[in-house]
Amino acid sequence: MVRSSWSKVRVLPLLWFLFHGIPLLAIRLQPCELAGQLYILDVPKSELPLWLCIAEFESRFNTHVVGQANADGSRDYGLFQISDRYWCAPPNRTEYYAFNDCNVNCTHLLSDDITMAVQCARLIQKQQGWTAWSVYPEFCNGTLDAIDVCFQPGNATESMTSDELAEVKDC
Ligand SMILES: *[C@@H]1O[C@H](CO)[C@@H](O)[C@H](O)[C@H]1NC(C)=O
Ligand SMILES: *[C@@H]1O[C@H](CO)[C@@H](O)[C@H](O)[C@H]1NC(C)=O
Ligand SMILES: *[C@@H]1O[C@H](CO)[C@@H](O)[C@H](O)[C@H]1NC(C)=O
Ligand SMILES: *[C@@H]1O[C@H](CO)[C@@H](O)[C@H](O)[C@H]1NC(C)=O
Repeated sequence: MVRSSWSKVRVLPLLWFLFHGIPLLAIRLQPCELAGQLYILDVPKSELPLWLCIAEFESRFNTHVVGQANADGSRDYGLFQISDRYWCAPPNRTEYYAFNDCNVNCTHLLSDDITMAVQCARLIQKQQGWTAWSVYPEFCNGTLDAIDVCFQPGNATESMTSDELAEVKDC
């Protein structure tokens, strides 16, 4: 089942840009930009479609996003929405905080430099598999967007085309 579509998602950052200005655009990665960074961080190419899908549905490729509090008060951080209950140390003293298995401060998982977030996410994946992410069964367990196009020249720094601008104006 293909639910994920970059072409649809790509309009969103454009709207943010138009209504909120440049800073918000800067923290939202393009899919191919993320694919390139993951690849540089030694993530196997075969896993890239899955990581992109998880980042898309967890954070809309937004590195700085902190989720709303879960039922127990815990929060999820960054691109892969990593939980501060088990994986990172939250900024404040909390009841629910149990482990810091990634040995990292949660705020470091919000960085534009995604190295820590990726290392932590891969540790989670190794220990718990893809189902550690609640979006996986619904959105990422099936045919995913191919990432081959990202590794052709010109696509790593994908930017808006006049077609996309027209699409936004039509809204
Ligand atoms: C931590 O506490 C500060 C000050 O009380 C508050 O502004 C901030 O939102 C808290 N952070 C989180 C993630 O709850
Ligand atoms: C996390 O932050 C605390 C202070 O808020 C600091 O003392 C500690 O060294 C940090 N840990 C890491 C792994 O950066
Ligand atoms: C993923 O899809 C396969 C094949 O459709 C299915 O057998 C499996 O149960 C699914 N896994 C999850 C976690 O949804
Ligand atoms: C870049 O990616 C798009 C799809 O996102 C594809 O249609 C296009 O052919 C690619 N361009 C190059 C130069 O590979």
